[in-house]
Amino acid sequence: MADNGVINPWTVSGEIDYNKLIERFGTKPIDWKLLDRFKKYTGGLHFHLRRGVFYSHRDLDVVLDEFEKGNRFVIYTGRGPSGPVHLGHLVPWIFTRYLQQTFDAKLIFQFTDDEKLMLNPELTEEEVDHWTFENALDLMALGFEQEKVEFIVNRRHSEKVYRVALKVARRTTVSTVKAIFGFDGDTSPAFMFFPAMQAAPCFIESEREGRPVPCLIPAGIDQDPFWRMTRDTATKLGYPKPAQIHCRLLPGLSEGGKMSSSVPGLAIYTTDGPDIVEEKINKVNTQGRGPETCSLYQYYYFLFEESDEALTRIAEGCGARACALCKAQLIERVNNVLENHRVRREGKRSTVTDLLNL
Ligand code: TYM
Repeated sequence: MADNGVINPWTVSGEIDYNKLIERFGTKPIDWKLLDRFKKYTGGLHFHLRRGVFYSHRDLDVVLDEFEKGNRFVIYTGRGPSGPVHLGHLVPWIFTRYLQQTFDAKLIFQFTDDEKLMLNPELTEEEVDHWTFENALDLMALGFEQEKVEFIVNRRHSEKVYRVALKVARRTTVSTVKAIFGFDGDTSPAFMFFPAMQAAPCFIESEREGRPVPCLIPAGIDQDPFWRMTRDTATKLGYPKPAQIHCRLLPGLSEGGKMSSSVPGLAIYTTDGPDIVEEKINKVNTQGRGPETCSLYQYYYFLFEESDEALTRIAEGCGARACALCKAQLIERVNNVLENHRVRREGKRSTVTDLLNL
């Protein structure tokens, strides 16, 4: 990681050197051997894999070995529901849907409403309930099959996770939690237990089935500290170690860090109307930047241009092509995608009500 970069589940800022993160977190790059294995299942490769948006992993090879032996894996990912969904959140979820379709896998999706309440004493229970529902609409709008999705909302469905979380927490210590997450004296005591709540869904299918069920977690690399702790306890508890596949983080509208709700002006939300999107994108200072440093190019790269040839043309035109043109094209694409997304989202109200057991 570059010296000025910070990355953990709650703060991501500055320039992030993603290759150095692989060393620091002890993960592995997704190499050509693994990509070739993926090709076998899908014919082509998802553009997130081709471009290294998903670029790092732990035990992805092990999970594929098991799959080939007929031992299907469960996919696990989640969301901390304290505000609206932005474009960055869509990156791992779009890929998760691809994984679900490719491997016909069940998805366990956790809403860490408890985490958000522990982190922010000002947030109300009504607010996290509201955002859980709203965020679930965004997720389901991406086309997941309802029959293969299970929601775990920690406060609502605690009976599903608490018992396993307790097993995890009994096998970890305050020192481990502190070393990984860096809590201090101002942290809520509840937070010492929370990492065990995020770990628990990795193991609940194994518990339910009474045999080792592999688990694959697609998520941003900012969530990785949780999995380091979880993998240590898996061994102690006799569960399979959960595997991860990590994505880079979509930057905010100005350079560096990630798109984050803590700076709303620098994030594009799925609920932002056409005028807001236009205003936000037009405000970005792109002058003198190239594809390496222009955040708008990253939006094409992560989400809004799936054709590699077209993407290369955008990169080559950068500088020569007026930024105003590039912005106008991006505004149109983002608005098209979001308009369709909002229609699909509205159609998911009864699905989400069912999945949340409301
Ligand atoms: P949360 O709500 O912070 O983030 C949800 C997911 O979005 C990813 N993410 C991003 N990906 C790309 N670019 C960005 N700018 C960006 N910002 C966020 C995160 O990495 C995450 O995958 N505690 C978790 C919720 C959770 C969870 C999980 C996440 C519970 N269980 C299992 C992943 C896997 C949270 O607050 O995520």
